[in-house]
Amino acid sequence: MEKLTIEGGGALKGEINVSGMKNSALPIIFATILLKGDSVIKNIPLVSDVLNSLEILREMGAKITVLDSHSVLINTDNISSEIKAHALISKMRASSYLMGTMLARFGHAELPMPGGCNFGVRPIEQHLKGFSLLGAVCNEENDFVLISTKNPLKSTKITLDKISVGATINIVLASLFIEGVTVIENVAVEPHVDDLIHFLNSAGAKIIRYGRRIFCEGVKQLHGVEYEIYPDMIEALTYLTYVGATGGEIVLKNTNTAHLSYVLDIFSKMGADVGITEREVKFRAYRALDGANVTTAPYPLFPTDLHPQFASLLCFSKNGGIIKEGIFPTRFAYVGELQKMGACMKQGNGYIEVLPSKLHSATVNATDLRAGAALICAALATHGVSTINNVNYIVRGYEDLTNKISSLGGKIKLLKGEQ
Ligand code: UD1
Repeated sequence: MEKLTIEGGGALKGEINVSGMKNSALPIIFATILLKGDSVIKNIPLVSDVLNSLEILREMGAKITVLDSHSVLINTDNISSEIKAHALISKMRASSYLMGTMLARFGHAELPMPGGCNFGVRPIEQHLKGFSLLGAVCNEENDFVLISTKNPLKSTKITLDKISVGATINIVLASLFIEGVTVIENVAVEPHVDDLIHFLNSAGAKIIRYGRRIFCEGVKQLHGVEYEIYPDMIEALTYLTYVGATGGEIVLKNTNTAHLSYVLDIFSKMGADVGITEREVKFRAYRALDGANVTTAPYPLFPTDLHPQFASLLCFSKNGGIIKEGIFPTRFAYVGELQKMGACMKQGNGYIEVLPSKLHSATVNATDLRAGAALICAALATHGVSTINNVNYIVRGYEDLTNKISSLGGKIKLLKGEQ
């Protein structure tokens, strides 16, 4: 099993190119199931979740050609309606997008319950509610989801009971070919949702989002496209926590600063020096930042995917803070690992209070993707050599992590196998 060693204590300085957004690359890759002909997807992040999604499509019979390090050609014209690669599907939450795409293309979908990051129950009843209102029959049996329709699906109005990225995307995917206009209310408005809509509209779909309402007018078919994925907002913000914790400066290139603005404002209030243009962030933190209290919530508010990294940053802040988790109430598996490094944290029901702490190096275990990213933050800002196990979680979502951190002056090594 791979592990990272990090010799921390130095300020990170330099610039990095932000990679393409994992959370939109995945639905876009699965959405190619609905396009006829070749599509070229650019700015694809080379992370293991993306490679696994491509593998799932390949096993279904798709033609996948890697054009260069960040572009891939996908043609799904001859895929089978049978979903294979069950083991990979059960590992990945994003494989749930096969429900919407297979229903739209073949009228049925049968797949193992999608897996994913390890931070509590991740229900799909809102996805199934949407499919059912469109006329499909949905069942869950022996850890499989079975969705089918004998008659053509019918357009209707669907109001989500909860704001859900996954359900919003899945219902949009299922609605693309339905005659008339499907209206989806109380939708998620994360940049990954808009990236997918932008992609589908480039392929001939007729989707409009007004605030938390989506109108999807059915079309007969979608054509292949050349499309560039949006930059990854969570990767960008993660690097800012690293620079904020170590005290230093960074230029983030190839980013979309509009997506970052809520959190950038918080960093400014904490005392960081933040300068933005449309595509670049200049960020400096030459003294310990002040603390902050935040609550995770759907976009445009504070992202749950930054919660663990932000908790790490607060350990190095002047006065700490409280993070309330409003999306996944049990997303606290990282806390015990940071405590092994000496972090002073008090966990309550759905929140964590972080006190300024003097951390020491230790051997710790990544428990999921963002928890792993949080441990890297702590290790970079702590003197001594720390070891982080279970790197497999971290490479699911951070492209070229060791090279990017090294280019900022971080002393990080990836050790393969039993070293
Ligand atoms: C969520 C995050 C997304 C993040 C991803 C990976 C939100 C709104 N979504 O997306 O930004 O990138 O995790 O960490 O922040 N829910 C139900 N029933 C459902 C679907 C969802 O109760 O059928 C609940 C979930 O348990 C959760 C909330 O709704 O509390 C949001 O879930 P959802 O957005 O669907 O999760 P992801 O799509 O995984």
